[in-house]
Amino acid sequence: MVLPNHGANPLHLYKQAGITPPEQIVDFSENVHPFGPPAFLAEQWPKMLERVGTYPDPQGEPFRTAAAKFHQVKVDQLAIGNGAAEIFTWLARRYRNQQVVLIEPAFSEYRQTLESENVQIRVIQLGPENGWKLTLEKLQPAIVGCTALYICNPQNPTGILLDLDTLKKIAQACLNQNCELVLDEAFIDFIGEQVSFMPFLQEFPNVIIVRSMTKMYAIPGLRLGYAVSQTETIDQLKQGAAHWNVNALSAAIGADCLKAASYRLKVIGAASAERQKMQQFFSRNHCRTTDSAANFLSFQLPDPYDSQAFFVELLKKGMVLRHTESFRGMDGKWFRIGMKSTENMEKLREAIAAWLEVN
Ligand SMILES: Cc1ncc(COP(=O)(O)O)c(C=O)c1O
Repeated sequence: MVLPNHGANPLHLYKQAGITPPEQIVDFSENVHPFGPPAFLAEQWPKMLERVGTYPDPQGEPFRTAAAKFHQVKVDQLAIGNGAAEIFTWLARRYRNQQVVLIEPAFSEYRQTLESENVQIRVIQLGPENGWKLTLEKLQPAIVGCTALYICNPQNPTGILLDLDTLKKIAQACLNQNCELVLDEAFIDFIGEQVSFMPFLQEFPNVIIVRSMTKMYAIPGLRLGYAVSQTETIDQLKQGAAHWNVNALSAAIGADCLKAASYRLKVIGAASAERQKMQQFFSRNHCRTTDSAANFLSFQLPDPYDSQAFFVELLKKGMVLRHTESFRGMDGKWFRIGMKSTENMEKLREAIAAWLEVN
């Protein structure tokens, strides 16, 4: 069975798999948390209508200034995108016809955007034998002659977090090779700003950080992300963007989201508690897991050859996992799950336990 690559949009998956979707579906395949957007959004919604009648700010204000303040960087160090996904299209254009290093398994949009700009891709393959960990020894020879290296921290799909010391060594190795480091921090807010590379941008002018508002603020439908780097790099990146690329609602809502400090703490706490419960469950049931620090993790059944049948069985029960057919090095033998409500995580554990009992 050929399955679509993406998390989210589960009805496409049911259609392609030829399975009638049950009435209730829980989508563990996408990593947006289950609490919904911050409460202010529902309260302010009626007022949002006013914003629809005028063109948005071409630089994504007021969000750009709010994000610069949040990260304590200059406003002109930020470019705002229609989701982090848009920024990856600008980056691919920046590296057109060049060579870029990807760490696999990786978020599939890196490869898709780069290939569409004729970028040659070099791969550093990670695997379970060394805990899916990236080391400097593996990296150093791979970046020679490359224009950029993409790292996702914490990494999607494993959730593994690289510490700041290692990252600084990597950024320095890239600087020595005249190579840019694209650091995708789409999930870093689930751990906290203390692990972000943001404070080191001045020291490493070759680093471009990509951030997403989607996951932490549960606003995947709005599309809001940003890149942070040196002003010159940011100016070049933004040149490829459509005018008014960020809509007025996203720019206004995003600015207010950044004020929601207690909301963030609640989300971080819940995601971490659910992940730990899940890890303990898998460990008791002899399933391998990735050592995730994020709001998702990947796991493998005791017998990974059962993976497709298991996936289909859970689909029939209305539980959509992220299969890994398209994640190089996981090849369908692992699953990624995003942390959802306590109740839904419990239902998932029950369904997995029921499967393991008879298989
Ligand atoms: C690692 C990673 N980076 C970036 C993105 C894109 O995020 P956005 O919704 O802001 O486009 C995703 C979305 O799933 C992701 O998993």
